[in-house]
Amino acid sequence: MSGNHEWNKRYATPNYLYGFDPNEYLKQELLKLEPGKLLLPGEGEGRNALWAAKQGWNVTALDASEVAQKKALKLFAEHGVSVQYLVTDILHFTSYDQFDAIAMVYVHVHKDIQQQLAHKLVSMLKPKGILIIEMFHPEQIPLSLGGPKNPEMFALEEELQDQYKDLRIEELSKVVVDLDEGILHKGKAVVFRMRATKP
Ligand SMILES: C[S@@+](CC[C@H](N)C(=O)[O-])C[C@H]1O[C@@H](n2cnc3c(N)ncnc32)[C@H](O)[C@@H]1O
Repeated sequence: MSGNHEWNKRYATPNYLYGFDPNEYLKQELLKLEPGKLLLPGEGEGRNALWAAKQGWNVTALDASEVAQKKALKLFAEHGVSVQYLVTDILHFTSYDQFDAIAMVYVHVHKDIQQQLAHKLVSMLKPKGILIIEMFHPEQIPLSLGGPKNPEMFALEEELQDQYKDLRIEELSKVVVDLDEGILHKGKAVVFRMRATKP
């Protein structure tokens, strides 16, 4: 499971690095849908899962970091919400269920496995299921705010279009946002926002 050691180290603090509030785009898009089964890959410390579970979604979250899972479970217990949270690499995750929605927020994987990740996510969506992604745009690399610095961890717009060609892409935009998500995501950032539906 590449990278989980690094993430475990980063999460080894009582602070919730991305805060307690959900990502704005995830919130905006999920509020348009009827709650159903939701998958949150790379969910970290649980902020999105907490909000979605409170909205009535049946949430499955996963992350490669067991430290993140521990913090997320503490958060859910404090709020009395129920979320299934698994420690696994996304690419190793299997499920008999398919999902009404999948929301992946700031999860960056190497170019070599981006297509494999896309196939995995598409296969786990129900027909008419919705995929929501927010991730850094390559133009983020020189900015100080955060995100990976290795260009191989980013995708170009045409690569995303190709990776998710089995979906109907309804939005794929480059947006400059003023992030206010905990201590790590604070300030101006260039991001991709993508929403797509499985036919
Ligand atoms: C920037 S954090 C974002 C956390 C969360 N989505 C949020 O918005 O608060 C990226 C997360 O993705 C997880 N991650 C990265 N690659 C992963 C993989 N291949 N499988 C599972 N989790 C992964 C990391 O462990 C980390 O928790």
